[in-house]
Amino acid sequence: MALAEKFIDSPVGRRVTKTFGLAEAAPLRRWHPDEPLLDGPVLVGHAEGGRMVPFVTDVMTAAGAEVTSVDDGENRYAALVFDATGVQDVRGLTTLFTFYHETIRRLRPSGRVLVLGRTPEQCTDPASAAAQRALDGFVRSVAKEARAGATANLAYLAPGAEDTAATTLRFFLSGRSAYVDGQVVRLTPAKVLEPRHAGRPLGSRVALVTGAARGLGAAIAANLARAGALPVCLDVPAQGERLTAAANEIDGVALQLDITAKDAPQRLARYLRERYGGVDVVVHNAGITRDKLLANMTPGLWQSVLDVNLDAQLRINAALLDTGVLRSFARVVCVSSQSGIAGNRGQTNYAASKAGIIGMVGALAPVLAERGSTANAVAPGFIETEMTAEMPTAMREMGRRINSLGQGGLPVDVAETVTWLAHPGSGGVNGQIVRVCGQSMLGA
Ligand SMILES: NC(=O)c1ccc[n+]([C@@H]2O[C@H](COP(=O)([O-])OP(=O)(O)OC[C@H]3O[C@@H](n4cnc5c(N)ncnc54)[C@H](O)[C@@H]3O)[C@@H](O)[C@H]2O)c1
Repeated sequence: MALAEKFIDSPVGRRVTKTFGLAEAAPLRRWHPDEPLLDGPVLVGHAEGGRMVPFVTDVMTAAGAEVTSVDDGENRYAALVFDATGVQDVRGLTTLFTFYHETIRRLRPSGRVLVLGRTPEQCTDPASAAAQRALDGFVRSVAKEARAGATANLAYLAPGAEDTAATTLRFFLSGRSAYVDGQVVRLTPAKVLEPRHAGRPLGSRVALVTGAARGLGAAIAANLARAGALPVCLDVPAQGERLTAAANEIDGVALQLDITAKDAPQRLARYLRERYGGVDVVVHNAGITRDKLLANMTPGLWQSVLDVNLDAQLRINAALLDTGVLRSFARVVCVSSQSGIAGNRGQTNYAASKAGIIGMVGALAPVLAERGSTANAVAPGFIETEMTAEMPTAMREMGRRINSLGQGGLPVDVAETVTWLAHPGSGGVNGQIVRVCGQSMLGA
């Protein structure tokens, strides 16, 4: 039994749940290669003027799902998708309400709610902007009401981004997004690259993952390898043995390097160019915590966290861009944190570094878009790793419970999210911060 499940089953876990009215934890349906993408039919509805139903039907049918736009009033659905792109005003929201009002009780365990809208910031009249922004509050509330491992998310499409939505649909409607809940992503127009092998979409792409000896980094590298990438697993020399073992297990390459070393960016750029001619995917995952209340924090503790978590990423990105080692259609994925969004007592250094990542991604995204590349961040909430196992007990147990899914996530949940962002077909997802937190109450 996983640690999280053990806690949920314990008397303390049950008491915490009851006292705070928290969600009961249910087993989450995660993606598995031997199982279908969804365990039931997808119902697709739309508001007048919406044009996405045929696209959703084609994408999900090709992925092996049964898709219908006619509700028989009895069917239990694995996913309820609503195309709200045609909604122009408050009255137009009624069809959204009616669709979910009539079907939400028939959503299966670990079911999916996905709403498609138009980017409110690009709506020119107040009525459209208001109605589209209303989707945000609606979806986040549905996510909070959903039970039994079900999730609700929202994808806004900018004009011209409609045909970039395939990877996002497959991600949000499947078990790959098991711990991504109450999230809003904005898609922009981009060239969509169709991988030759759908099962190995990252085929022959070189993927650098920092901090890959253990925890999230090891899970991310393994997930990218499963998607066909050639992983270059980087970690500090002190983790050498673990790093080699982790890399060997996934037919990857181990690279011992301290990313804070003065010459690390240049050495890395040279290594990637000489060995592979460039790099396609860069996952900045390496990170440390050195928690202390601000008044007790030494300059050394402050600096070491900023150096590893933020400055090293900035310097590596600059070197890979300057040398042209970062190829066109590259994917840069940075690992931020919920602390970078909500702040956290005792983590002024860590939260500053993780918020800094969000700033960096925002500025990098338009620069990379010019080359068909993207920069995004994932912001994990409470994930079961060695890092969180070291937290004080009370904090750890609360961390697991204060989210809409009532449990901690697994490293694979972060890894699946990174792989979606690293997909060649995900060019329309750029500059986004995707929380992998089960819709944590912190910073929401
Ligand atoms: N576990 C969580 O719940 C959680 C939540 C939010 C964010 N994160 C972030 O996810 C990332 C991974 O977290 P984790 O829980 O797997 O941590 P972890 O401590 O298990 O792994 C981090 C890895 O980074 C490596 N590393 C540290 N400094 C390095 C350096 N200078 N050069 C190269 N490698 C270095 C470490 O050796 C280690 O292998 C971190 O950035 C962390 O801040 C984790």
